[in-house]
Amino acid sequence: MNKSVDVVSVVGARPQFVKLAPIARAFTSSGLKHSVVHTGQHYDEKMSDSFFKEFGIPEPDVNLGIGSSSHGVQTGAMLAELDGIFEQISPKSVLVYGDTNSTAAAALSAAKMGIPVLHLEAGLRSFNRGMPEELNRIVTDHLSDVCLAPSQEAVKNLATEGLKDRTCYVGDVMVDVCYQTRDSLEETGLNGFLNSEYYLSTIHRPDNTDSAQRLESVISALAGLEHPVVLAAHPRLVAKAASFSVSLDREGIHLVDPLSYREIVAGALGSRGVITDSGGLQKEAYLLGVPCTTIRPETEWVETLDSGWNVLCNDVGLLRDVAYRDSPLHDTLKFPYGRGDASENVAQVILDFLSNN
Ligand code: UD1
Repeated sequence: MNKSVDVVSVVGARPQFVKLAPIARAFTSSGLKHSVVHTGQHYDEKMSDSFFKEFGIPEPDVNLGIGSSSHGVQTGAMLAELDGIFEQISPKSVLVYGDTNSTAAAALSAAKMGIPVLHLEAGLRSFNRGMPEELNRIVTDHLSDVCLAPSQEAVKNLATEGLKDRTCYVGDVMVDVCYQTRDSLEETGLNGFLNSEYYLSTIHRPDNTDSAQRLESVISALAGLEHPVVLAAHPRLVAKAASFSVSLDREGIHLVDPLSYREIVAGALGSRGVITDSGGLQKEAYLLGVPCTTIRPETEWVETLDSGWNVLCNDVGLLRDVAYRDSPLHDTLKFPYGRGDASENVAQVILDFLSNN
């Protein structure tokens, strides 16, 4: 293994592969020596390998193959493996992404080994400590040497927690990848894969999937909307629905496998609205100028709520009316997450950090 690696990216779950794509390109352009460790948290072809192919990301240097289990077992298995991997690679820094168990495990392992930790998407808060992701975010930010914030709101949250000196606003790398994908779809003449009146939906949060009653009410609400719903099913949703005998096969719901990134962007652009509990998709809808309805009591992407582009609707009895609303005017869209240069900013911050440490 190369002893002069500048930065090791640790990824493991679907949204992290999407963020890795522009980062890997920016690191190559800026001359940073980069290795990728995949924890194996996501392992299905459509949750993992397909994204490496779609974005042309080089194969991970290491795949730990951890897979699914309870939070403690999964995180612990990652920790046990990562110590040895970091010792072998001996990188100058470790970059962790977002808020998954892979993020928290890599930050903890690296910090305890004295390797500087850089956190991409730092400072987001839902202020809901019942979410595993909220705990992962808090732990990771406080373990990090550099908190790479995607928005001014995130900068503010980090300052409130005493982390101002370690914070750098870089913008959001999801903007880079979302705009590049939208533009490439426009070039191929493909924007909107059904071109009709439908909603695009994803549901995967434990709060919505892990109780039979809640899952039944969410799925019934989707099936009862004014327009058909294209439901791109995360494996957790399929597994939980099967275990609770909640049918996903209903009139009004068109069930499809997890979509590629191009399909998600095309699907959102062609829809009359997005209905989701995903953080990434809420933001993508905003960037693409598509109204979003979020089936959660709160969001960490608070800027998307401005002008009604994103509306929180945890009471699914109201979903039909909330989702049916008119789209806000496009000139109310702002640029709170930067304009698509976040990955270059991240590369520059890391170059500066490494030359000063
Ligand atoms: C994880 C992240 C979440 C992120 C999501 C993106 C944590 C705590 N949560 O949630 O923040 O929004 O990824 O998708 O890290 N499964 C498969 N195949 C796979 C992966 C998962 O079948 O390739 C199934 C298994 O039944 C597994 C379940 O999905 O138990 C949940 O997977 P897990 O990685 O624990 O969390 P996610 O719900 O995917």
